[in-house]
Amino acid sequence: TDSTKEKLIRVHEDSAELFHHILLNTKIGEDALDYLTQRGLTRDIIDTFNIGFAPQERTMLHQYLIGKNNEQELLQKTGLFVEKDNGDLIDRFYNRIMFPIRNQQGKTVGFSGRIFQQDTEGAPKYLNSPETQLFNKRNILFNFDLARASIRREKEVILFEGFMDVIGAWQAGVTNGIASMGTSLTNEQIHLIDRVTDHVLIAYDGDSAGIEATKRASELLATETNFDIEIIRFSEGMDPDEYIKKNGSDAFKELIAHGRDTLFSFKMAYYRRSLNLSNESERLGYIEKILTELLSVTSAVERELYFKQLANEFELSMDSLKEQFQQKFHDSR
Ligand code: CTP
Ligand code: MN
Ligand code: MN
Ligand code: MN
Ligand code: MN
Repeated sequence: TDSTKEKLIRVHEDSAELFHHILLNTKIGEDALDYLTQRGLTRDIIDTFNIGFAPQERTMLHQYLIGKNNEQELLQKTGLFVEKDNGDLIDRFYNRIMFPIRNQQGKTVGFSGRIFQQDTEGAPKYLNSPETQLFNKRNILFNFDLARASIRREKEVILFEGFMDVIGAWQAGVTNGIASMGTSLTNEQIHLIDRVTDHVLIAYDGDSAGIEATKRASELLATETNFDIEIIRFSEGMDPDEYIKKNGSDAFKELIAHGRDTLFSFKMAYYRRSLNLSNESERLGYIEKILTELLSVTSAVERELYFKQLANEFELSMDSLKEQFQQKFHDSR
């Protein structure tokens, strides 16, 4: 007989199929399908990611799964239901577009549901499965199973913030993308990545949250040895999915291929954002920070380039910059 985990997986797979069917083949799925079509998703990509729709009626999934002879006790463990005061289970997800979340083996172990109508104020944009025996957010990277082959081929993984970024990139032909699903990257997730590649391209959103998350993720990745990290920066308020929609797939592929920043130049831009460089002490603080960051740039050629940039920008001599750097280098030993 099946273990509880296997049963839980089957329930998730069945639920995903039901949501997918409702989205594509029923009247109640029409608005959700329109929304996805408006956002530029093709039928093909909706199939690839098995996207679905959980309708307003909060008894639907429960009835469907009971009809398939699942016991109440098992259903309680799925995280797909909430218990009413009288003990009845009702569907957790309703009136949401459903994104199945798969584990590394490609099995559906959780969901994230997105609201898509205006009259849902106060509700979170995405609602995720709670932690269950199957679903442990720390250990899961969205799309890691499908992306793995392409990550190996490209010798690089692209780290996005969100579901729609991964899906939009896939539709544009960039299939080595995964998402940490909004939360900051965990050590567990870093170890999963580490087993497949040592090159990470971070492509988070261009807003402050995305920039802060890029800084955090790059620092976490840098504490693990041997990760080569590069950054794609999007303009303020733009995310990868929006970039693709606005500029097209070719422009996106071009950006991925040739629009990279080194981690170092990302950090220069990062510190600049928060500092007023016309103020002398902030300017000195900035130069200090940059010199400190330069300690971890191992290529002498690259360092030379940054010395030049700094010297030009702040009208300093290369010699004084280098002298201060040497001092730091000495102190850090
Ligand atoms: N997220 C979440 N819960 C929320 C908001 C966000 O889990 N209430 C996660 C989702 O995985 C989401 C990611 O954080 O994909 C990034 O959030 P955000 O940039 O706000 O959303 P988008 O991915 O851009 O979603 P969309 O394009 O659908 O608006
Ligand atoms: Mn390498
Ligand atoms: Mn975001
Ligand atoms: Mn976003
Ligand atoms: Mn988005």
